[in-house]
Amino acid sequence: MASIATFALILCVLFVNTQSSDLNVGTSLNSELLYLEAVQLSSIPLKTRTKNVFYNNSTSTKIIKGITAIDLARSEAKATITAGGVGSTFANIRLKSVRGSGLNYQIQIFG
Ligand SMILES: *[C@@H]1O[C@H](CO)[C@@H](O)[C@H](O)[C@H]1NC(C)=O
Repeated sequence: MASIATFALILCVLFVNTQSSDLNVGTSLNSELLYLEAVQLSSIPLKTRTKNVFYNNSTSTKIIKGITAIDLARSEAKATITAGGVGSTFANIRLKSVRGSGLNYQIQIFG
C-alpha cells in the first residue's frame, strides 16, 4: 500500500513540474548570487515574445552551481538553457512566451 502511495506522489510531483514554466537546475545551497535579472516584456496580440538572457562575468571564474528562472506571471511560457549553465562560467537562458502573452521572469544565477 505504501508503495502505491509513493508512486502516486511521484506522479503528482511530475505532473506539477511539467505544468510549471519555472526553470530550476542545480542548487543555490552554499553558493552566492552571481547574477539577478528581472525580465519584463509586454504582450503583443498574436505574437510570441522571446528574450535571451546572457550571463558572463569576465572578472570572475566562478563555476555556476544553480540557475532558476521563475515565471512570476504563472504563464505557459518556456525557459530553457541554450548555452553554458551549471558547470560553466557562463549561461544563456532563452525565455519564450506563448502567443499573445508577455514575459515576467526573475532570473537568478548562483555560483
Ligand atoms: C563579476 O565578478 C566580480 C568578482 O566576483 C564581482 O565583484 C562583480 O560584481 C561581477 N560583475 C558583474 C557584472 O556581475
